[in-house]
Amino acid sequence: MSDTVTVFLNDVSVQAPAGATIREVAAANGVHIPTFCYDDRLQPYASCFLCVVEVEKARGLLPACSTAVAEGMVIHTDSQKVIIAGRPLWNFFFPTMQETALLRAKLPVRRISIYRAI
Ligand code: FES
Repeated sequence: MSDTVTVFLNDVSVQAPAGATIREVAAANGVHIPTFCYDDRLQPYASCFLCVVEVEKARGLLPACSTAVAEGMVIHTDSQKVIIAGRPLWNFFFPTMQETALLRAKLPVRRISIYRAI
């Protein structure tokens, strides 16, 4: 098994470490995917679906924060489906994002886990 895979990110061929998530590969290639429940200190929780992306041949939109890339995967982060799916979520979460950011800044990691489980 190879250590790297080739994926197509917004029509650009990129090399990615096997097992990396779509979010990680996108970030490494300068593509920002908005997240809400993702925290790099914790295992991906994949509950808000703010980070959804379109992967060709997948049944629906997939959470970029918890979906591992695979050889030949064709990923769209800014397709019409993604934009339409993300807009209501963005509007729903935006009023609480600043509050959450403040909580994260003040609470230790253990408290954040409890907070996220609620
Ligand atoms: S950031 Fe919440 S599901 Fe990915």
